[in-house]
Amino acid sequence: MTGFVSFVSSGPGDPELLTLKAVDRLGRADAVLFDDLSSGPILSHVREGADLVGVGKRAGRASPQQDHVSQLLVDYARTGARVVRLKSGDAGLFGRLEEEITALRDAGIGFEIVPGVPSPCAAAAAAGIPLTRRLTARRVQFLTGADVSGGLPADLNLAALADPHATTVIFMGRRTFHDLAGHLTAAGLPPDTPALLAEGVATADQRLWRGTLAALAERLSGVEAGGPPALILYGPLAQGDGDA
Ligand SMILES: C[S@@+](CC[C@H](N)C(=O)[O-])C[C@H]1O[C@@H](n2cnc3c(N)ncnc32)[C@H](O)[C@@H]1O
Repeated sequence: MTGFVSFVSSGPGDPELLTLKAVDRLGRADAVLFDDLSSGPILSHVREGADLVGVGKRAGRASPQQDHVSQLLVDYARTGARVVRLKSGDAGLFGRLEEEITALRDAGIGFEIVPGVPSPCAAAAAAGIPLTRRLTARRVQFLTGADVSGGLPADLNLAALADPHATTVIFMGRRTFHDLAGHLTAAGLPPDTPALLAEGVATADQRLWRGTLAALAERLSGVEAGGPPALILYGPLAQGDGDA
């Protein structure tokens, strides 16, 4: 008997941003494997008696190895269980989805992907701005600010990242932003380019800060790892409702 895995996107944190399909899959699952950013009130939709397995980084504890998470998914599905693999934002963005899909395919286990609200869309909404602007931001680009070692990726496309006509969103980039901003200004992006730091978007701890690229680089200089999840947006951002 082989089970089935639903990769379910949990959105950025607010349970009201779950899709109806996500709520349905959570309510019917026998086992839910969840990341830290997909925990809290979102899990109230899981039915009583289902196995709840945290597979994310916890305070001070190392994250389980990706292979271990993939193997857990396969093992649960092989018991015939309906498994939900819950991932924050949209499951297809910076979520190691491909590795888990490959493990399921290799094991002959069926799966579906339930899309969800990506955190950049929720951050822009919280700040009261669009991600695109008709004449000034015709392109949006998503970047991870950290490579596997946690440092700034070495193969940055600086021509694209310093494009003044794009809105750029950086995931996991708080600690490396000071360095990145130096590369961006050296590549010609004006230091007074508007920037937004969005922390804990759509959670009770949401904090927004608006300023310039240069001021944000200064603010994040020497910042330690950890803290709430954060996104950095820069580019021709519209006027919005940020706190600063
Ligand atoms: C492993 S990635 C997953 C991204 C997710 N798939 C998405 O669509 O948002 C985790 C990173 O996404 C960003 N992130 C996710 N949820 C967030 C939130 N509620 N507020 C701010 N940033 C968030 C942060 O950069 C965080 O370090």
